[in-house]
Amino acid sequence: MNEITAELYEAAHLAMLNAHCPISHFKVGAAVETIDGKIFAGCNVESVTFNNSTHAEMNAIDTAIANGSKTIKTILVLTDTTEPVFPCALCRQKIAEFGENTEVVSMTLDKKIKTASINALYPDPFLLKDIGL
Ligand code: THU
Ligand code: ZN
Repeated sequence: MNEITAELYEAAHLAMLNAHCPISHFKVGAAVETIDGKIFAGCNVESVTFNNSTHAEMNAIDTAIANGSKTIKTILVLTDTTEPVFPCALCRQKIAEFGENTEVVSMTLDKKIKTASINALYPDPFLLKDIGL
């Protein structure tokens, strides 16, 4: 694990401890490294309405944007599972929109790791250019 991955793991782990998941009890932490070298983290936040929940990856990306950083170089996703899990399709869409072939790193608490580029995980995303912008 390189230095930036270790930093992302720590940030994702702190956020994961704050996961609000009274329905699924499935805690997720995420941390992003932006191209300007900053780190932002997020956790999943479930709503009692079921359909108004935030995923950890979305939360981390939104936090980066709220802090003025819009381009995600790397995203690390941390779960308390036996094998690392990659983000869902909604998160893949969001990662694709706010990166330039972002590296996706998925880890377990015991530091099992798998990585893939977002282009490999989510080819041909719907982007601003598709609505003429
Ligand atoms: N979850 C994430 O945070 N990221 C994903 O990409 C997959 C799912 C959360 C949503 C919900 O709080 C819990 O994991 C179970 O689906
Ligand atoms: Zn998701």
